[in-house]
Amino acid sequence: MKKLIFLPLFAIAIYCCTPKAKVAPAPEFSDADVARGKVFWNDCSVANLSSAKALYNGKCGTCHALKPLYSMDETGWRKIVPPMAKKANLSAAEQALILNYVLTMKDARK
Ligand code: HEC
Repeated sequence: MKKLIFLPLFAIAIYCCTPKAKVAPAPEFSDADVARGKVFWNDCSVANLSSAKALYNGKCGTCHALKPLYSMDETGWRKIVPPMAKKANLSAAEQALILNYVLTMKDARK
């Protein structure tokens, strides 16, 4: 009877060790995103948007849920990001990156 417990474990192990089909992920940010960002962010690029997103996701969702980027307009974001960056102990450069990211992506329609 005790051996039965190993069956599901065995099944899970087999499932986890089976290679999954690999599909190339679609690029996360489009040329249109980069073009929107370039208007006020000279260094805007797919790579910079990706690192800014990682920073936003990593630092801004620890106290509350991540705010959807479309939930505020530019004035709202410009007002809230500095005090929030302070709460999250971000450097000035990180704060600027996050502000540029939210302003670039708030109008994105996915
Ligand atoms: C240390 C905790 C903490 C961290 C980290 C934090 N926040 Fe907040 N955030 C709060 C609290 C508390 C409030 C609500 C009260 C206030 O405005 O101070 C809030 C409110 C907000 C609001 C307003 C929500 C509303 O409905 O009006 C936004 C937007 C926001 N945070 C964005 C961010 C962003 C962007 C970051 C990352 C730079 C961040 N937060 C990091 C604690 C945090």
